[in-house]
Amino acid sequence: MNVFIAGGTSGIGYALARHYLEKGYCVGVCGRDLKKIPESLSEKFKPFQANVCDIDSISAAVHSFTGHENNLDIFINCAGSYAEDVAGKISYEEAEEMLQTNILGTVNCFETARKAMKGHTKGKIAVIASVSGIMDYENSSLYTKTKRSVIQIADAYRRALKPFGISVTAVAPGYIDTGKLRQLNNNDLSKKPFLTDVETAVNIISTAIEKQEKLIIFPAKMKWMMKSLSLLPSFLLNIIMYRKAQWMKDDQP
Ligand SMILES: NC(=O)c1ccc[n+]([C@@H]2O[C@H](COP(=O)([O-])OP(=O)(O)OC[C@H]3O[C@@H](n4cnc5c(N)ncnc54)[C@H](OP(=O)(O)O)[C@@H]3O)[C@@H](O)[C@H]2O)c1
Repeated sequence: MNVFIAGGTSGIGYALARHYLEKGYCVGVCGRDLKKIPESLSEKFKPFQANVCDIDSISAAVHSFTGHENNLDIFINCAGSYAEDVAGKISYEEAEEMLQTNILGTVNCFETARKAMKGHTKGKIAVIASVSGIMDYENSSLYTKTKRSVIQIADAYRRALKPFGISVTAVAPGYIDTGKLRQLNNNDLSKKPFLTDVETAVNIISTAIEKQEKLIIFPAKMKWMMKSLSLLPSFLLNIIMYRKAQWMKDDQP
């Protein structure tokens, strides 16, 4: 089995790479900076330098991984950009990178994966969105809006690729204990409710891909909290979510 993970050089993507290598699969990963890779895992682990915002770059990486055969079984897009953009406190550069990576990068990954699976009737594609993307409210952060778009882009590709036997799984996790999340929060995750460890997340994500689930939201407590909040009138939801974001960052309202 061949698995390619865009954004597989650290965090959730790298943990997924380890998981598939332990199963004996051949795993290609990419990122912009290969020095991030904690350790090269085995001869079946193939790292490529590529940027998902550039379709030629990601296509070349996947092509180098698969060679001339369209034998890619699983493609997972973990490449994502997130910043602490509470209350709109985000620079132009951060916003640009977030939009490019999370939206254009998602489309580029779907296009690359579908080509690498052409003629293959059992391909599986997955993309990491966020639990925040399941809620629709006016004052949500730019990150949340991009992740909502990721879920919707996945819906569109699921419909388009179904006739070719390719499944699309959108993954909407709550907080996962990765180095990046720690770095953004000065190593203090005490205000991140229902934090999930990365091994648990990998098990949930890989099982959902295997079962060809359309959308997996986890952990369950976070899922039900978000679904309950979604039932509130939008003005109330806006206030609650904004206050919650400020509390997390110790901002004054
Ligand atoms: N951790 C959480 O709590 C959490 C919760 C919900 C959703 N998520 C989502 O899960 C995904 C992974 O998050 P993480 O915490 O594991 O973060 P991470 O460790 O920073 O992983 C992101 C990966 O994507 C790569 N990447 C970023 N921009 C890229 C680009 N333009 N082209 C190619 N690769 C790129 C990074 O490598 P380079 O920077 O070297 O390119 C890295 O390998 C993200 O989409 C994030 O939004 C995370």
